[in-house]
Amino acid sequence: MRTTRKISDNIYYLGANDRRIALFENLFPLNNGISYNSYFIDDEKTAVTDTVDRFVSDSFFENLAQLLNGRPLDYLIVHHMEPDHAANIGRLIEMYPDMQVVCSLKANQMIKQFFGADLGDRAIIVQDGDSLSLGKHKLHFVTAPMVHWPEVIMSWEESTGILFSADAFGAFGALDGRIFNDEILIDESWWSEARRYYANIVGKYGVQVQAVLKKADALDVKMIAPLHGPVWRSNVADFIAKYDLWSRYQPEEKGVLIAYASMYGNTEAAANALALALADRGVDKIRLRDVSVTDVSELISLAWKYSNIVIAAPTYNGNMHPKMEHFVMDMKHLNLQNRGVSIIENGSWGPAVIRKASEILESMKNMRILEQKISIKSALHDLEPIEKMADEIAADLKN
Ligand code: FEO
Repeated sequence: MRTTRKISDNIYYLGANDRRIALFENLFPLNNGISYNSYFIDDEKTAVTDTVDRFVSDSFFENLAQLLNGRPLDYLIVHHMEPDHAANIGRLIEMYPDMQVVCSLKANQMIKQFFGADLGDRAIIVQDGDSLSLGKHKLHFVTAPMVHWPEVIMSWEESTGILFSADAFGAFGALDGRIFNDEILIDESWWSEARRYYANIVGKYGVQVQAVLKKADALDVKMIAPLHGPVWRSNVADFIAKYDLWSRYQPEEKGVLIAYASMYGNTEAAANALALALADRGVDKIRLRDVSVTDVSELISLAWKYSNIVIAAPTYNGNMHPKMEHFVMDMKHLNLQNRGVSIIENGSWGPAVIRKASEILESMKNMRILEQKISIKSALHDLEPIEKMADEIAADLKN
């Protein structure tokens, strides 16, 4: 059964959803599945952009056969080689022996690595400035190295202004028939999942995203067709603005993420006291999260959103509580910058968190460790240090 939709005259969406998947990349929890997007251009020449994950291959091949309606497939455009999109390249190469594969030099190498297939003269290697005419449609290629793999390219279709953006501008979440951004509610919970996707998958590569945004700025982008999530056919500038902010590591809002680890509730009590003290001072954007029960990808998303972070944790094996260490190291690995950070440690006999967290934060770019630090011995009995920390954070938010 054909399950496609037109995104413009003669360009069709033939993506597929996986709603059973629990972990994207076997790493990031999904609560509403994910879509793998592919697009078909029906012109004098036929072309399909990317494929889908192996778990949803059947619908892709059925849709493709129906869209081709007996015609040959002339081109496969490979924007990205990660197997959630590239899984079916080997099968397509075999099924359509006259099909040419349009990709970067690195993608051509990866096709050999993944499928053992040497494309030879079936490969059309493209780089910046190259284009491919399909008849009425013409694709212009834009390289996007390290957004978020080295072989990535995007393509911009001249007659429609569609930017096929690879993983960029993607989002977690399956699509339920409504494939366009203006058909779904783009509210805070939607942005929260889009930010979680960006920060965790692409976040490390802000410099490279900035480079691609500059290239895209020279194009008349009317629609964005990513590899995951909805097709953006309206308010395109809103998403581009978010990408600009996120990739410059600038917070979206002045607000505080209080991330705490607590084994018996004593560090949690301090984190709670700080949240209350901040609220007393009129701070309205406070997110208090227990790192032991919050997936680190969610913590990263909140760290990307807010200007200030509080780390509150006990010592464990002479280091930070391991769940907190995971969060702090993840921020470092993802290159997060430009945040104000306050630290609360709890150590009954060997406090270590202020020292250990500071070492990591000082090795990151533009992470400001705020002056007020709190060292608890087992349990907090005096609210004065909490009040001082709240004063400092409230003042910092006003700067
Ligand atoms: Fe959606 Fe990098 O693959």
